[in-house]
Amino acid sequence: MLIVKSIARMQQLSLGLPKPVVLVPTMGSLHEGHLALIDRAKKLAGRKGFTVATIFVNPAQFGPKEDFQKYPRPFKRDCRLLQNRGCDLVFAPAVENMYEPDASVTVTESQLQTVMCGVSRPGHFTGVCTIVTKLFLLVQPDLAIFGEKDFQQLTILRRMVRDLNFPVGIIGHPTVRESDGLALSSRNVYLSPEERRQAPLIHQALREAEKELRRQSVSRSALENFIRRQIGQAPAARVDYVAVVDPETLLAKEPSQLPVLLATAVFFGTTRLIDNVLVK
Ligand code: PAJ
Repeated sequence: MLIVKSIARMQQLSLGLPKPVVLVPTMGSLHEGHLALIDRAKKLAGRKGFTVATIFVNPAQFGPKEDFQKYPRPFKRDCRLLQNRGCDLVFAPAVENMYEPDASVTVTESQLQTVMCGVSRPGHFTGVCTIVTKLFLLVQPDLAIFGEKDFQQLTILRRMVRDLNFPVGIIGHPTVRESDGLALSSRNVYLSPEERRQAPLIHQALREAEKELRRQSVSRSALENFIRRQIGQAPAARVDYVAVVDPETLLAKEPSQLPVLLATAVFFGTTRLIDNVLVK
């Protein structure tokens, strides 16, 4: 497995990689969720193609009070995991090489980012769109894989690629979970043992809500309240938002019409966890 840190070298290599080139962008601190994306990339690349993972903790997508400094960076371990899964190349540029000190161009999606995580994390999705644009230009992938756990991110990136005509196919991959239902996340390590014990209630609440809406006709606001009440059973939980929305537009939608996305963000202490269930 090649480990590339230089931007110039990545640009040079990207011109001659065997196709299809399949990209998995990450911020490292890899877990089985990320590695499932790598497995999917390997399958899509086939025997002839090439799998690229990027590891870059992107300062532009962290708010001033968020965890950029303390975000875990176990780089050697990450490389070992990627190598074991058969990844062909890791691109891991340094922050100071990725952003000019006076960088003044960004990529902003202006509709889908006005709801859900975009409300509590202003600027976050511009940071994501800008870095993913840069990674697409540097690696020149044919396909890129993103997890459905970050459903809004996936939806926004699909829109970006559509509206800016990027020649990149976006593939969504299902959320990988612990056996108790908690979505795998690099941020789960911040949870105290007690918070970790309560955290699976997030997914349980969304699943119960799915059952509820399949059992009887229920309004959007009733369903949102139902999810809030369920999550409220975890004493350490503080709900940031609950959304019942159309999975393409992310606009509020009555759940009598499927498909509908049930999504939530929940604080445990200072740790913010997100999860969602797509009801089809
Ligand atoms: P990161 O949080 O490291 O996630 C990298 C990719 O792994 C994302 O596509 C994310 O949706 C996916 N992922 C995370 N947890 C998952 C899980 N439990 N199951 C399935 N997929 C999961 O998302 C980012 O980094 C950044 O915003 C990035 C796109 C790399 C841009 O900086």
